[in-house]
Amino acid sequence: PLIKYVDHSGNEFEADVDVGKTVMEGAMDNMIDGILAECGGCCSCATCHVYVDEAFLPITGTAEGMEKEMLSAVNDPKPNSRLSCQIVVNDEMDGLRVEMPESQY
Ligand code: FES
Repeated sequence: PLIKYVDHSGNEFEADVDVGKTVMEGAMDNMIDGILAECGGCCSCATCHVYVDEAFLPITGTAEGMEKEMLSAVNDPKPNSRLSCQIVVNDEMDGLRVEMPESQY
């Protein structure tokens, strides 16, 4: 599935991410800046914060539990905030657009 990563300046990067990988891994594998992922994907750093395109929220779901708690500490959290290491790519997510915050701190 093709995932679109949009940075704070509006630059768009596309990556073909394998089903089963996370949106965070897709960014790392394709050298897309804007997601730091300091903890490597174990939901403990919150430096992989993204805003999910509203149209895709029914597919990705919204943050729950631990992830939701972590998101309360990020810069400028919004209802469509997710930690990208917690979004596992599936076929339905083809065309998914995520915006990256200005800063992960
Ligand atoms: Fe650390 Fe997502 S990579 S919380």
